[in-house]
Amino acid sequence: MARAVILGTGSGAPARVVTNRDLEARMDTSDAWITQRTGIRERRMGGDAVKWSDFMVPACRAALDAAGVAAEDLDMIVAGTLTSDKRMPSGGCTLQTLLGARKAVGFDLAAACSGFIYGLTVADRFIRLEPRLKVLVVGGEVISQRIDWDDRTTAVLFGDGGGAAVLTGTDDPDRGILASRIHSDGDLWDLLYIPAGGSEMPPGREQDPRRDHAIHMRGNELFRVAVRSMADVCAEVLDEAGVDPSDVDIVVPHQANLRILQAVAQRFSIPEDRVFVNIDRYGNTSAGTIPLALDEAVRAGRVSRGDVVLMPVFGGGLTWGATLVRW
Ligand code: COA
Repeated sequence: MARAVILGTGSGAPARVVTNRDLEARMDTSDAWITQRTGIRERRMGGDAVKWSDFMVPACRAALDAAGVAAEDLDMIVAGTLTSDKRMPSGGCTLQTLLGARKAVGFDLAAACSGFIYGLTVADRFIRLEPRLKVLVVGGEVISQRIDWDDRTTAVLFGDGGGAAVLTGTDDPDRGILASRIHSDGDLWDLLYIPAGGSEMPPGREQDPRRDHAIHMRGNELFRVAVRSMADVCAEVLDEAGVDPSDVDIVVPHQANLRILQAVAQRFSIPEDRVFVNIDRYGNTSAGTIPLALDEAVRAGRVSRGDVVLMPVFGGGLTWGATLVRW
């Protein structure tokens, strides 16, 4: 049976860097607290001056170039995002027109931070059925516009950025997505959510517009669920593919908190030097973290043909999932 293979990756982020010291000037926090509790040193923040497509289009073009695929040959664009340029059209349709991917179908997956892994899973299933398909999967956010600057427990964590991957089918039994699984638990919605913007609190019904459109989070509880759910789904994809954790060459995890990544890697006795980390430079870019980290890992030569790559994620919903690839 054909497998889905990643042909190329790309990434992008707004140029403006916001350091922990910059945040110290804005709220009651410290570089030491943020670094020790999260591993974050700086993040990119476009704020109101940047829209999603400004950095996602270059990310997609870089992925298409790396893959050697022309935009007009794409069949599908799957966008994992909550913050594309407009409420309507979808980010997938916006990318379709800006890239000139005339024959593709574009659509979004609203899975918060898990959007890219949800997208890879959908692409994997489509490609298994139709191996000739060329699919662009993207994940990225402008989260800086969704921050309550009076809430130091969330404001220090997030940043803007994202990335993209181009996939198609291969008959090569030694390559491609070995397993990809996604899950959700709607009962846990209130660990991480944005109150306004839907039909429950439509435009004009906000009490405090800035705060109601911002991320609300119960960080402590989320931390525990994150470690457990990511570890469980890693075990699930490893089992399904018959891969031993010691055979994983690199973990490219969701970058939410350095301590979460370390805890998940420890569950499988995966040494820290096999875990790709860039949270220090980007913070949590939600659906952007995995494609951004994957692209950096590929371009840094950390991922070679034949390597086993494990990508676990969790996010609002709650949603979680993992994709296991032999590169
Ligand atoms: N600067 C300084 N102090 C802060 C702070 C900040 N930015 N944010 C919280 N604090 C304080 C708290 O008020 C608390 O003070 P107290 O002990 O006087 O009450 C203290 O630091 C410890 O807070 P706590 O929430 O227990 O810290 P923590 O070690 O759990 O770390 C998170 C907080 C948010 C970093 C951590 O829980 C986390 O990463 N959770 C998961 C979040 C996540 O992954 N979100 C995205 C999901 S996709």
